[in-house]
Amino acid sequence: MNTIEHIRATRDISREELEMLLATDDTALVDHLRLAAREVADGVYGKKIFMRGLIEISSHCKNDCLYCGLRRSNTTAVRYRLTDEQIMDCCATGYRLGFRTFVMQGGEDGWFDDRRMCRIVEDVRRLYPDCAITLSLGERSRESYQALFNAGANRYLLRHETASAEHYARLHPSEMSWQHRIDCLYALKEIGYQVGCGFMVGSPYQTVDTLYEDLQFIRRFEPQMVGIGPFIAASDTPFADRPNGKVATTLRLLAIIRLLQPRVLLPATTALGTLHPQGRELGIQYGANVVMPNLSPREHRKDYAIYDNKICTGEESAECRACTEQRLHRIGYETVVDRGDFRAEPTAE
Ligand code: 5AD
Ligand code: FES
Repeated sequence: MNTIEHIRATRDISREELEMLLATDDTALVDHLRLAAREVADGVYGKKIFMRGLIEISSHCKNDCLYCGLRRSNTTAVRYRLTDEQIMDCCATGYRLGFRTFVMQGGEDGWFDDRRMCRIVEDVRRLYPDCAITLSLGERSRESYQALFNAGANRYLLRHETASAEHYARLHPSEMSWQHRIDCLYALKEIGYQVGCGFMVGSPYQTVDTLYEDLQFIRRFEPQMVGIGPFIAASDTPFADRPNGKVATTLRLLAIIRLLQPRVLLPATTALGTLHPQGRELGIQYGANVVMPNLSPREHRKDYAIYDNKICTGEESAECRACTEQRLHRIGYETVVDRGDFRAEPTAE
């Protein structure tokens, strides 16, 4: 059996296979990887791509991650917070545009404490009982995750960033702990969230070994979602002069993750679209099955600047919705507006 069929059949990859697939310039082999990943995705989800509406609720952050443009030490970052009313307006617009999943994302911002955040989640849950509520608000206490779940949140995105504790320590200040992040992910899962982990491709100090650990972590943790995108240098951060991650490597990793976890919800990310004009379309062609058009108020979009030159900062929500649909249509996919829940493997009778 060749390498790709072996990975597909065993849902596992060796370090050597990974190294070879990331380094190869054999285009026939890469084509095979892409087609195999798409075949697996089509087998589970068909030609349907799920759309999620992204609402960036706060650009304030108490953390100081070395790679992120919103780190607290970045005094040039413009800080904003959406009001409850603005958040509800974004949901209303999103609902009219057909979205049935709202992703509320923000920096780690104490303003959005449990009382305030639970109230927002309860309001969205009451007004849109048919929608999924996804949160992406970083590390919080187990009690906080539980309270937000009780308020009506269904899913939580928290990238693990790297499965190597040593690598994690080179990307984050010493007060942040890899173990705490992993503990958060397991707590979320235990509470009952559909959980997304993930990492940047081409982050400083990343190696084949750390990527191999990432893939093994994903196999062990079995997340419902995996978010990966290229690292993109952000001005006024310690990594401002580092090279960007590679689009080709990101695409190969998307395909590999699809082979390892056939049912996983896998977004073609904005970062991929930022580094390549057809990045998101390519992501779909390499096995991704989710896109997350921006629903944030236009006047704040450019200020959610986790990296430089982010796309979709000048468009209205309706424009991003239409643009995404058109782009997917052109490559033969249809966007679906249902909640797009993770589909568990049917259990044998
Ligand atoms: N380039 C690409 N992705 C980034 N993220 C943060 N900073 C960058 C950057 N410079 C990613 C992190 C984080 C997610 C919200 O965005 O993986 O978890
Ligand atoms: Fe936002 Fe194309 S998706 S402009």
